[in-house]
Amino acid sequence: MNKFTLCMLILLGTVCWIHAGTSQLLQGNQQGTEHSMSIRSKTFGKTPDGKTVQQFALTNKNGMSVKIINYGATVTELTVPDKNGKFDDVVLGFDNLDKYLTNQSYFGCIAGRYANRIAKGRFKLNGKTYTLARNNNGNHLHGGLKGFDKVIWQAAPIRVADGAALLLQYVSKDGEEGYPGNLKVLVTYTLTSNNELKISYEATTDKPTPVNLTHHSYFNLAGAGNGDILKQEMMINADKFTAVDKNLIPTGGLKNVHGTPLDFTTPHTIGERIDSVEGGYDHNFVLNRGTDTLSLAARVFEPTSGRVMEVFTSEPGLQFYSGNFLDGTSTGKENKVYNKHFGFCLEAQHFPDSPNHPKFPSVILKPGKTYKQTTIYKFSAK
Ligand code: GLA
Repeated sequence: MNKFTLCMLILLGTVCWIHAGTSQLLQGNQQGTEHSMSIRSKTFGKTPDGKTVQQFALTNKNGMSVKIINYGATVTELTVPDKNGKFDDVVLGFDNLDKYLTNQSYFGCIAGRYANRIAKGRFKLNGKTYTLARNNNGNHLHGGLKGFDKVIWQAAPIRVADGAALLLQYVSKDGEEGYPGNLKVLVTYTLTSNNELKISYEATTDKPTPVNLTHHSYFNLAGAGNGDILKQEMMINADKFTAVDKNLIPTGGLKNVHGTPLDFTTPHTIGERIDSVEGGYDHNFVLNRGTDTLSLAARVFEPTSGRVMEVFTSEPGLQFYSGNFLDGTSTGKENKVYNKHFGFCLEAQHFPDSPNHPKFPSVILKPGKTYKQTTIYKFSAK
């Protein structure tokens, strides 16, 4: 996308904000369908320094919908039909901005500039040592104290070939949280007519910098707040995972999943072997990749509703996190309490701490190059 197109899109988005209020921004005109594609926006809240946060609602022709706020580029709601056509919201989140401002769980956000951990918040690049914000046991996690999950993004609804979409842009300044280079990030969420939530990422920089972006929704295919996820069946297309120490920092080695509770090459319920994994699942799986740009990374099935979620990605890794730190202290949407294991995350990304492991696929973005990622969460029911 060139600069002019981007400016026009941002301008369109801004104009829509000013004039729209709660009005309809884009409306499809499919005839004879029960629902039509649309995007609506409304004010979701205000940050303490007075910035207005908008919420955008994208609906597809099947009635599936996703709501996204431009604080953290966060998915706040995702309604998906079950095998009987009944819709439920399958992501954890909050009804109001204040809770997003204070909660530490990264519900639904885009994590960056470097999602996951960087050991001791330190890395060396071209002979120089960079020190990042440390916010997790002396390590750097999900971009630091004020990562991409805690900033306001510019948002513009756009129409794309395969559905309604929201384009979000954020410019991360040189030195922000310790990272080198001004980084321009574009994230597009598309709700396709095939019941897919598709996330496309692009980033460019003016100095070499590590980049690792991911989406951090907590899913519960039985519906957010409707119990734990331990009976949901997980398949992860990975023969290996990155071995970690007790603070979840990679040792540098890759381990085979076979014969361990991390073997999800055939479906297992999440709960079946979780007690033999210290702390629960919070591991980066090394995906088995074919030659296709997008390959199947995971499939989850919830037996009661029949809902299935498949994850396809261009990334080499997938962090499977079983909501181990959820502890019921935060009350979610509709006053539902989110206890331990009430949601799982499947975060497509590069391997944790890659800047300190030359053998891992490189995460260094150079000026003149474009970081690109596509990840799709596809829903169906059986
Ligand atoms: C990621 C990490 C977890 C945890 C969550 C947020 O999934 O791997 O350890 O930090 O984010 O709570």
